[in-house]
Amino acid sequence: MSRRIGREDFAPHGKSDRHRKGWPRGVSRLSPAFGLNYGYLAHTGDASGHVARGMREKRALHLISHSVAPSSAGFEEAGNGEVLRRRPMRKVIRTGVIGIGKMGANHARIYATMPGSHLVGIYDPDLARARACAEACGCTAFDTVEALIAAGVEAVSVAVPTSKHRDVVCHVLALGAHVLVEKPIASTVEEAEEMIRTAGRRGRLLMVGHIERFNPAITAIRDSVGSEEIITINIVRVGPRPPRIKDAGVIIDLAVHDIDLVRYLTGQPVTDVYCVSSAHGDVYEDTASILLRTERGVSAQLTVNWITPYKAREIQVITPNRLVRANLLTQHVQSASRYSAEDGSYLVHDLYVPYQEPLRAQLAAFLDAVRRGEAPPVTGEDGLRTLEVALRAAACRTDSILRCAS
Ligand SMILES: NC(=O)c1ccc[n+]([C@@H]2O[C@H](COP(=O)([O-])OP(=O)(O)OC[C@H]3O[C@@H](n4cnc5c(N)ncnc54)[C@H](O)[C@@H]3O)[C@@H](O)[C@H]2O)c1
Repeated sequence: MSRRIGREDFAPHGKSDRHRKGWPRGVSRLSPAFGLNYGYLAHTGDASGHVARGMREKRALHLISHSVAPSSAGFEEAGNGEVLRRRPMRKVIRTGVIGIGKMGANHARIYATMPGSHLVGIYDPDLARARACAEACGCTAFDTVEALIAAGVEAVSVAVPTSKHRDVVCHVLALGAHVLVEKPIASTVEEAEEMIRTAGRRGRLLMVGHIERFNPAITAIRDSVGSEEIITINIVRVGPRPPRIKDAGVIIDLAVHDIDLVRYLTGQPVTDVYCVSSAHGDVYEDTASILLRTERGVSAQLTVNWITPYKAREIQVITPNRLVRANLLTQHVQSASRYSAEDGSYLVHDLYVPYQEPLRAQLAAFLDAVRRGEAPPVTGEDGLRTLEVALRAAACRTDSILRCAS
């Protein structure tokens, strides 16, 4: 079964591009290179817009036909709920969530509605919170982790405070379930290594919730940059302090997202780490400027803090030919490239990105790995490598950085 998919079907939050706020359009023309561009298309603010939109629909369809997920009704479904065509049902995985705070409640909401998942139940020592969430999701709030797993749960999201990841994850793996643990994998390298060893010994999957890998804006950047050499990456991730985070600073809690992105986008290990951080009214740092260099010389500048009054997540990836930038919240992605050396004008394209909730894509990838019995897309080792870099940044002392003579 299929139906014609119109332009508005792909606009994020039901808005068309022209409603998006943020960056100025600059010079906006259709680039010849865009005709070859991996399923994303320029949105132009000028007269060529009609052509661009028509092509965009075609390409968005192409893209969605490669990102379908099975629905429990035996249909294939695009991430936006669009029913495309019939296919045999894939195995429904029995799921559970441990830790029903801000993040865990979102895992439960998605497992409860996701094709291919049957949310059996949840566990949180805060029973009132667990019961309220269970009622909203139509599942059971169990009194213990053992009772949850004994109810036949195969795949579990663990979204407890980071300092408790190791204990809860190792316990669940020992009880025989596959685990998706929220980022960062753990508080220390030793804890992370124990989690990886336990998963190996028990023959269970351990995936780490580095959610930005599943952000369609990051997929668009990756596809757009393709095999071009990356020279440098700039990321800003700032906002107000979340009062509930009490066991980590902004580097371990927030910058891990960006360290993971640098590893993911470059495909290289990080070799050099520099960091200047400071704390304002807490034992943990709440601002950090981090410089990274990868094995083959890509540099990255990461700015994270918990002191900016509004939330912002922005990334720029710069290659010899262009700059691709994204707002990771709105999933608005633009590519800017040199147009005229004579007058300095340049081209700016909006890349078309079908909006999808990154957490939904992440959980779908986890269940797919469980279904196929294959390594998950973000392994325990990935989480460990990212944590190692974050811990090195957090350990940097300003007095170990060369000072300029005053
Ligand atoms: N991927 C992301 O973008 C993202 C965003 C926020 C938080 N996180 C991560 O999610 C995890 C949880 O963060 P949060 O903001 O949801 O925290 P939170 O404080 O809102 O929730 C934590 C929940 O865990 C429960 N809990 C505590 N100890 C437990 C235990 N032993 N067993 C079961 N439940 C227990 C608490 O009662 C609480 O309900 C952290 O690791 C955090 O880094 C990830």
